[in-house]
Amino acid sequence: MNTRIVTIDGPAGAGKTTVSKLLAKKLGCVYVDTGALYRGVAFEILHRKIDWENDSALENFLEDLDINFVMEKDSLLLVSSGKDITNKIRTPEISMLASSSSAKPQVRKALLGIQQKIAETKDAVFEGRDMGTIVFPDAAHKFFLFADLNIRAKRRFNEMPGDTKDINQVQKQMEIRDLNDSKRKSAPLKPAVDAIEIDASFLSVEQVVDKMLKVIEKA
Ligand code: DC
Repeated sequence: MNTRIVTIDGPAGAGKTTVSKLLAKKLGCVYVDTGALYRGVAFEILHRKIDWENDSALENFLEDLDINFVMEKDSLLLVSSGKDITNKIRTPEISMLASSSSAKPQVRKALLGIQQKIAETKDAVFEGRDMGTIVFPDAAHKFFLFADLNIRAKRRFNEMPGDTKDINQVQKQMEIRDLNDSKRKSAPLKPAVDAIEIDASFLSVEQVVDKMLKVIEKA
């Protein structure tokens, strides 16, 4: 790998997205949200009514799957079968389905090459759950970002639109997702042995990014 890859893993709501975007901007490189790919799979499962827990139905579905990122200006769009689905994948239903279907090794295998291919030609900050452990074990810099569950739930709640939202439900769903993502057999959420762990509970986005930049610049 001749490109410079930075990985940021961690649980839902730890601030990975805002941190990764700002870090990528400061480093002048691309930012890749790999959760979007798993959400894209969940979106298609939902819309095509796939019985994804049935292995042969899942395999047929994955053979037909045509999902990828497309570069537009300085951001990446998620395109599935020619359609831009970037703005359709952020519902609570898709979050939960992405978490459960991403435990299937067949799903992870189908998305692995897409992520690694981007890294062949572009310097990038990749955010996800298994970036430092499985997808980019040789990344130049690895970070694991976490924060207290109630702080993460509060942040996510504040970002959500609408007034029918319920903080207890947000926290419960986050807890279930954390558990699904870290207890699964295939590429579970965990820090790589050589990752630098950052507790973002009481840090601003700028403080987290500054910490990361110091590590990167020192290398
Ligand atoms: O980062 P996110 O919340 O958008 O991710 C949605 C789900 O996708 C997450 O609960 C687990 C799965 N995921 C994964 O298994 N591996 C990744 N690298 C990124 C996301």
